[in-house]
Amino acid sequence: MRVVRTVEQLRETLEYMRQGGHTPVGFVPTMGFLHEGHASLLRKAAEMSNTVVMSIFVNPLQFGPNEDFEAYPRDERRDLELAEREGADIVFIPSVEEMYPQPTRTQVTVSSLTTQLCGASRPGHFDGVTTVVSKLFNMVQPDYAFFGLKDAQQVAVLRRMVSDLNMNVQIVACPIVREADGLALSSRNVYLSAEERSQALVLSHSLREAREAIQTGQVRTAAEVRGLLVSVIESSPLAVIDYAEILSFPELEPLDQGISLNEAPGEIIMALAVKFGRTRLIDNNVFIPK
Ligand code: PAJ
Repeated sequence: MRVVRTVEQLRETLEYMRQGGHTPVGFVPTMGFLHEGHASLLRKAAEMSNTVVMSIFVNPLQFGPNEDFEAYPRDERRDLELAEREGADIVFIPSVEEMYPQPTRTQVTVSSLTTQLCGASRPGHFDGVTTVVSKLFNMVQPDYAFFGLKDAQQVAVLRRMVSDLNMNVQIVACPIVREADGLALSSRNVYLSAEERSQALVLSHSLREAREAIQTGQVRTAAEVRGLLVSVIESSPLAVIDYAEILSFPELEPLDQGISLNEAPGEIIMALAVKFGRTRLIDNNVFIPK
């Protein structure tokens, strides 16, 4: 495994791999503090590619002024051990100066898909994501790029960006990896106190209950599902709901409030963002409600 810190080194190393016939190239972009969720993306990448590139970059552009950019957890040594173990061939770890040597005057913005859910609570966040991912795609020029459905809106936005801008890369969406008790893995889970950690289980519990209630016909409309999600989450005294929504996926459009979910034409998403103390957690479930 090769660790590179500059764009030039990255390009040279990739050139060498391509000349050796080690293609296709699979790419896993991350912000580090890696866990089993990231590991699952690396394994999928290794399955589908002959060169696996992972990037580790905490991207200041996608953090709001009062968010946790400075405090975001970092552990390079442990990350490199995991990357090596899970089959990364190249790990790209640029500094902020290497990624943004001058203030960026060019931004990539995907409209409409970015105004709801996390886009509503984190203004500018998705512009930061689409801009950095475009830069990374230009640097790595991957055949495949792997993203987790934990961030389902991110997947929807990036798919649309790739399609609108004819980027020559296939986005591969991978399932959410959870702890045994259901909590979705996240680098931010380390912020949770023991009490918050145990109450945070209401996210996955509410999604599971809602899914079952839809399947058994106990709830029919998006409004009823939302009511159920909110009541389960509010049973936890520390939970402060940021949003709980049911939308079409990947369009992220509201469903007609009156219609039964069984009549929705394709996939839907139940998406949650809930705060426990200063930690904001997200979780979701994408499925066809048949
Ligand atoms: P980060 O939060 O580090 O996540 C990197 C990738 O890991 C994302 O595709 C994310 O969806 C995936 N991931 C995180 N937790 C997961 C879980 N429990 N199960 C499955 N996949 C999981 O997302 C970002 O970084 C950044 O926005 C980035 C795309 C790197 C751009 O800066």
